[in-house]
Amino acid sequence: MLDISRKVAFVAGAGSVGEGWGNGRATAVLLARQGARVFGTDISADALAGTTAAMDKEGHRHWVGRTCNMTSSEQVESAVHECLERFGRIDILVNNIGGSAPGDPVSMPEEVWDAQMDLNLKTAFLGCKHVLPVMERQFESHGTGGTIVNVSSIAHMSHQMGGRVTVAYAAAKAGLGAFSRATAIAYVKKGIRVNTVVVGTMHTPLVENRLAKQLGADVDALVAKRNASIPMGRMGDAWDVAHAVLFLASDEARYITATQLVVDGGATAAR
Ligand SMILES: NC(=O)c1ccc[n+]([C@@H]2O[C@H](COP(=O)([O-])OP(=O)(O)OC[C@H]3O[C@@H](n4cnc5c(N)ncnc54)[C@H](O)[C@@H]3O)[C@@H](O)[C@H]2O)c1
Repeated sequence: MLDISRKVAFVAGAGSVGEGWGNGRATAVLLARQGARVFGTDISADALAGTTAAMDKEGHRHWVGRTCNMTSSEQVESAVHECLERFGRIDILVNNIGGSAPGDPVSMPEEVWDAQMDLNLKTAFLGCKHVLPVMERQFESHGTGGTIVNVSSIAHMSHQMGGRVTVAYAAAKAGLGAFSRATAIAYVKKGIRVNTVVVGTMHTPLVENRLAKQLGADVDALVAKRNASIPMGRMGDAWDVAHAVLFLASDEARYITATQLVVDGGATAAR
């Protein structure tokens, strides 16, 4: 089940903002555990080093970590080229990069709005721009195209998350869902599936390393509040996201495209 051995996965944002398991790091390691050769990019060499250490610890030898700013078309193109040189193909693309900045239309500086669009939307656009032609060529020559999983957030389904107003993040992640569906249909006859994992309130290193600082909140109190806000009584973690990505990337999901898989412990349904 969910065997992806011999497949090559390109994971964008394969690091983590802090020690432990961010969604991209857990996804990269889980795909490696299931047999894939994994090429991971991250803007931060430190973040990548943590993923390399996790891969080494588990003995995954078919792993390449490469620094790359996924908002730069040239850098993405060069990373895709390097992945092909190393592994010869790309079967799975995971666009995991994202993060939220607080603000409403008045309080948010224009530069922050633009940066949020770049981080949460353009990174996925550029990943697809440079990987889709590779998958299309594979489909034409061997009959197997590929699959793309974009990582979104339930923030686009609610007016605010945990008391924070994040208009650009909400808009960008809503855009990511629309982008995924439109791309899925544009490539549905070319052997390429495109889906979105919509992530709820998770306990990743982002909570301690970014969110608590942004909110000026006590970490324990913030964690307790986030846990209490979920119908299941607890946040999910990076493995919950990684398993959803693995399923959508696997052949078992071969009839699934242009859809969104919500991983939120029931949060959106309970609102
Ligand atoms: N943690 C949560 O609670 C949560 C909730 C909903 C959605 N998400 C989504 O999950 C995804 C990952 O979240 P996470 O908690 O693991 O965050 P994270 O910040 O730990 O991981 C994201 C990684 O992307 C890298 N990155 C940032 N900008 C980049 C760029 N321009 N080019 C290449 N790499 C870049 C970072 O260095 C980091 O290693 C994001 O899309 C986020 O919006 C997370």
